[in-house]
Amino acid sequence: MSEEKIIEIKNLEYIYMQHTPLEHQALSGINMEVNRGECIAIIGHTGSGKSTLIQHLNGLMQPQKGKIIVDGEDLSDSNVDLKALRRKVGLVFQNPESQIFEHLIGDEVAYGPFKLGLPLNEVRKRVKWAMEMVGLSFNEMKDRPTYALSGGQKRKVALAGVLALKPEILVLDEPTAGLDPYSKNELLEKIKKLNREEKITVIFISHNLEEVSFLAHRLYVLANGKNLVDGTPNDLFSNKEILEKYKIGTPDSVDILYKLKDAGFSINPRLFDVSCVAAQIFSILSTYQRRVTDDISV
Ligand SMILES: Nc1ncnc2c1ncn2[C@@H]1O[C@H](COP(=O)(O)OP(=O)(O)OP(=O)(O)O)[C@@H](O)[C@H]1O
Ligand SMILES: [Mg+2]
Repeated sequence: MSEEKIIEIKNLEYIYMQHTPLEHQALSGINMEVNRGECIAIIGHTGSGKSTLIQHLNGLMQPQKGKIIVDGEDLSDSNVDLKALRRKVGLVFQNPESQIFEHLIGDEVAYGPFKLGLPLNEVRKRVKWAMEMVGLSFNEMKDRPTYALSGGQKRKVALAGVLALKPEILVLDEPTAGLDPYSKNELLEKIKKLNREEKITVIFISHNLEEVSFLAHRLYVLANGKNLVDGTPNDLFSNKEILEKYKIGTPDSVDILYKLKDAGFSINPRLFDVSCVAAQIFSILSTYQRRVTDDISV
């Protein structure tokens, strides 16, 4: 992966409803760096500032204090080309309803590419690709009305609309919220593919630590508008001190390993992928079985 920084955030602060009795400091010093091609997760308690932070990345919110540099461009600069920025940084909101305006799914996904002035056959190609990428059949769904979609389907349509612009950076606010387990896994595989094969830099917010460890190269933990700690899922989830200190919570598979460790079994907490946990349990069981067999034959 490239070491070239595509996003740099320095001491970013943001206050909602500044100079009013309702003012609230949502960000109070965020520092972050993302390399081109990385997949970064942002986690943290409800209200910690995650959505506020990512809405800065495509210029939807302007930095009040601090700096954000995206692909060499300082977003505090009033001359920044917002259209070009939003083509480069595709953002899918936490609530997809706010992002859908057209009556038909096909038109909704085609809106961005049309606005880019692309030829009709290229627009159609992109719409088909983007819809299939998020698991919506182009032939079956393109003429369906957007108002009649479920929450999960709206989320997929919103993501397809952003993908159709072929962004270099994809920013997703809780992309799998409201999806059934099958669609969720399908979408996670697609996001992984976009990152690993199409080389799109991905930044996503999630409350689900399993999906964080499945997708992310690194993660940032936010609390009270500040980033507390960052590292690879492996480094953070296998470090019990950090997990407790920052109240991160643990993926279920890590929980199982720590319970085995507390019970005196020798396990490796860094190997917390489900298949590795299963292998560690099999190994404990076979040692145990061997001991029982030896005892019986004595
Ligand atoms: N438009 C707004 N006006 C005033 N305060 C706001 C606004 N939007 C968010 N806030 C406040 O800013 C803080 C950060 O909100 P934000 O939506 O960024 O949190 P979050 O980490 O995304 O939370 P969640 O996990 O619940 O989505 C919260 O305390 C929230 O109440
Ligand atoms: Mg949020």
